[in-house]
Amino acid sequence: MTDTGPLKAELIAAIAATETLEQLEAVRLNALGKKGLISTQLKALGGLAPDERRQAGQALNVVKEEIGVALAERQAVLKRAELADKLASETIDVSLPARATTNGRTHPLSRTIEEISAIFSDMGFSIAEGPDIETDFYNFTALNIPPEHPARQEHDTFYLNPDKTGTRPVLRTHTSPVQIRTMLNTPPPIRIIVPGRTYRSDHDATHSPMFHQCEGLVIGEGIHMGHLKGCLIDFCRAFFGVKDLPVRFRPSFFPFTEPSAEVDIGCRRVDGGLEIGAGDDWLEILGSGMVNPKVLENCGLNSDEVQGFAFGMGVERLAMLKYGIPDLRTFYESDLRWLKHYGFMPVDVPGLHTGLGTGGA
Ligand code: PHE
Repeated sequence: MTDTGPLKAELIAAIAATETLEQLEAVRLNALGKKGLISTQLKALGGLAPDERRQAGQALNVVKEEIGVALAERQAVLKRAELADKLASETIDVSLPARATTNGRTHPLSRTIEEISAIFSDMGFSIAEGPDIETDFYNFTALNIPPEHPARQEHDTFYLNPDKTGTRPVLRTHTSPVQIRTMLNTPPPIRIIVPGRTYRSDHDATHSPMFHQCEGLVIGEGIHMGHLKGCLIDFCRAFFGVKDLPVRFRPSFFPFTEPSAEVDIGCRRVDGGLEIGAGDDWLEILGSGMVNPKVLENCGLNSDEVQGFAFGMGVERLAMLKYGIPDLRTFYESDLRWLKHYGFMPVDVPGLHTGLGTGGA
């Protein structure tokens, strides 16, 4: 029968002599690893007579277990020692100045959309959305812009390849198709705003092929021009933070509203700069009107029973005016220096983002 005494003594001594976890791991591999001492002897058992094999096998397994226990105990001791070493050597100097943290900024467009949403939320509007890729029906036809209508040319539309039915989907040229989607899906009363991306083939300092609009739609019984005016005057004053901001409604034309009005705010141009809320100059900021009865009928609504108003504004334009940003293209250049300058700290600054509260409307 094999005497396992010397093997055990050798391994126990080797374990006791280790001073680091790496050394201990080396001993473990040498003992229990695939090609280690114990494994090799276990494999060699095959050559013995059955009786001998059983006895030797049992003895080897006992050693294996004892070595396992000894390894675990030594590991605990070494780990404790390592931690104690670390605690002694790594001290934290709490008097050192803190490292500067870099904060991201909220993009002025996101900020402007948040401000617009906060103001209209205060007036009971909810937010609706629609797809960027639209059908001709939602973007034009249902909005009373039939195929031969000149307004189609003005929109500089991006067309996509024809679909199965042979009609070409479009990148929506305005957020107005969401008016149609909402009226077809939701019974009145309706009170929504629709912030979102819009697309027109146009590119210069004040136009970009992709830009943002915020649509508004109110539908209900007895809605009239007075509601439109009150709502938009309150909005303009709250958005620009000027209590008595002059607001003017100027007759205009949109195929989907009748009558239509462009909304201007009072301003003064000084040395190439712009002062909002003073002086006797005017600045156009949004389009609006009473929803054309034809559009109501296109959406299955009875224009004798319900009426409504709609409006649409360019988000970039509003942001440029409010925050003095001179070139629209810079919104999309992802220039970190620009964002640091024009962006907003993510934590809200009290008084800057207070819905209707700002303008004292
Ligand atoms: N859709 C119009 C545009 O893009 C804006 C508008 C919306 C005008 C709703 C009136 C009513 O110019």
